Amino acid sequence: MTEPAAPTAGDEVTNPSLESEGELAFEGALRPRSLTEFVGQQKVRGQLQLLLTAATMQNRTPDHILLAGPPGLGKTTLAMIIAYEGDRPLRMASGPAIQHAGDLAAVLSSLVPGEVLFIDEIHRMARSAEEMLYLAMEDFRIDIMVGKGAGATSVPLDLAPFTLVGATTRSGMLPNPLRDRFGFTANLEFYAENELELVLKRAAALIGLPIGQRALAEIAGRCRGTPRIANRLLRRVRDYALVHGGDADLTAVHAALELYDVDEIGLDRLDREVMRIVLTRFGGGPVGLNTLAVSVGEESETIEAVVEPFLVRIGFLTRTPRGRVATPAAWRHFGLSSSGGLTSQGGLPLDDL
Ligand SMILES: Nc1ncnc2c1ncn2[C@@H]1O[C@H](COP(=O)(O)OP(=O)(O)O)[C@@H](O)[C@H]1O
Ligand SMILES: [Mg+2]
Repeated sequence: MTEPAAPTAGDEVTNPSLESEGELAFEGALRPRSLTEFVGQQKVRGQLQLLLTAATMQNRTPDHILLAGPPGLGKTTLAMIIAYEGDRPLRMASGPAIQHAGDLAAVLSSLVPGEVLFIDEIHRMARSAEEMLYLAMEDFRIDIMVGKGAGATSVPLDLAPFTLVGATTRSGMLPNPLRDRFGFTANLEFYAENELELVLKRAAALIGLPIGQRALAEIAGRCRGTPRIANRLLRRVRDYALVHGGDADLTAVHAALELYDVDEIGLDRLDREVMRIVLTRFGGGPVGLNTLAVSVGEESETIEAVVEPFLVRIGFLTRTPRGRVATPAAWRHFGLSSSGGLTSQGGLPLDDL
């Protein structure tokens, strides 16, 4: 076993799932409030628009919706938009907080007709609650157990019709009966750079930061395809310009991102550490998820839900049945050859990354 790697300042900036109090307020101010304001995810937007409009026309609650994808891509934002667009009340809940069926029963029984119930990280809900949810989703009804032991009886309780919006970073963890009960699953994708530029432009306007196109493009290229990280880097660039009394220009972007350990393609310390381990300790793989997680001192869930999707998306890592394997592109990026040693193009020794 190796010692867990010490966290560095860089992690906070690029960890897409870390949400501090200050950040939550900042994000709240930047969240788009309608589907038209929501940048990118064109396909999902079109699908949602159709589903919501049809429901409105027929004067019924929209089907249950599952939002799946890595952290920071807009799941919570979309859940809120689903409520706003239909002018419906919104109730926010989270999977880890639902430890017993009773926790869920309390929420479900207090819903008002047409309410949107958002359950974040729905894959982490307790099993017993999950089973209660099946019936609730299908028939707007739950069975409540009254009494204990042999004298226990179940009392049916009708619920107000509602729309469940579930969010998950790991749709593979959802049991099939639950997944099947959603009328629609939206798989959110990482954003393209031109979309991220739009996200950044909009955010810069909202926080009143004058910033040029080149600086925006540079941030867009380094935020791991993730709006949350884009907005966070923008804040750091703003801080940098403020403290140094200059403009939020390309120089400020370079300096701020270097300070926070984000490289030219958006890899952060943990990404580089994962690649370093795969390449140097396991000769490029295959290496199993758990072994990899232990080697970098992280939860395997973090590696699987946060780090890996991006490394797969940029073509550095592939998932095979035998484990994770580094691609030739990864060897090249880190200036290594698979036989060990540096390639003739040089590149940085991994220890310095
Ligand atoms: N499509 C988008 N357009 C504009 N901003 C977005 C978009 N998606 C996400 N954001 C911004 O990114 C931040 C994180 O989004 P959020 O919905 O909380 O992600 P998730 O719930 O998937 O982790 C929010 O502040 C939001 O303003
Ligand atoms: Mg969220």
